[in-house]
Amino acid sequence: MNKKIKKILDKKNKSKIVCLTAYSKNIAVILDKHCDLVLVGDSLGSVLYNYKSTKEVTLEIMINHSKSVRLGVKKSLMVFDMPYNTYRNPIEALKNAKLVMKKTKCDAVKLEGGKKIISIVKKLVKNKIPVMGHVGILPQTDKKFTFKGKKLKESEKILNDTKLLEKAGVFSIVLECIETQLSKKITSQIKVPTIGIGSSANCDGQVLVIDDLIGMSESKFKFVKRYANVSKIIENAVKKFKFDVLRKQFPKAKHSFKN
Ligand code: KIV
Repeated sequence: MNKKIKKILDKKNKSKIVCLTAYSKNIAVILDKHCDLVLVGDSLGSVLYNYKSTKEVTLEIMINHSKSVRLGVKKSLMVFDMPYNTYRNPIEALKNAKLVMKKTKCDAVKLEGGKKIISIVKKLVKNKIPVMGHVGILPQTDKKFTFKGKKLKESEKILNDTKLLEKAGVFSIVLECIETQLSKKITSQIKVPTIGIGSSANCDGQVLVIDDLIGMSESKFKFVKRYANVSKIIENAVKKFKFDVLRKQFPKAKHSFKN
């Protein structure tokens, strides 16, 4: 088994797993120092491209961003989020996942869904492509983005999906916006780590979108905690630059070339 995957699995019930998204190298370099897992999420569709949904994200866009992220990620596990309509059946999924692994040198891929994608997950795992699952809110296909696990039937389905995914060979599962007690139940009943986003502290690890965490997005999601206001820091720097340029304070002789 891939050493990085084993490291993630070994953390279950021992130590929390730290994950964040990255879409380019410079951020990835920072994350790599502190994260167990770096996800090139298709959330980049809304975060960077203002797409209405992740459905618009293409394989090409994801591959290009992942190549950049790969330059920064050395020690963490790098996961590639397979975009919408790139894994509709086992053959298509394998073809695209192989391409992704070859072009981006990522360590694993993530797929959204439960029972419906089990044959796809099995196909990839059989072909030695590590797979991360994703249940709860499924941004690629859900119409409503309300938390999951309000009703018993829905909770039972999600729990069952996680068990099927585990059996199919995923090495971990993202739980997106799943009710607190359901997250607890899933996390205690499956052996692979659960990585929560909006799914309470009951998960084995946590993931957030980096832009939300550092204050580079407008996101107002209940589950986001903003740890910095990088937007403001950049704006202040830009204002100072503008001031210097307008007042001829920049560049100085030390920034210029002379024969
Ligand atoms: O696309 C993404 O960033 C994700 C995470 C939020 C889990 O899927």
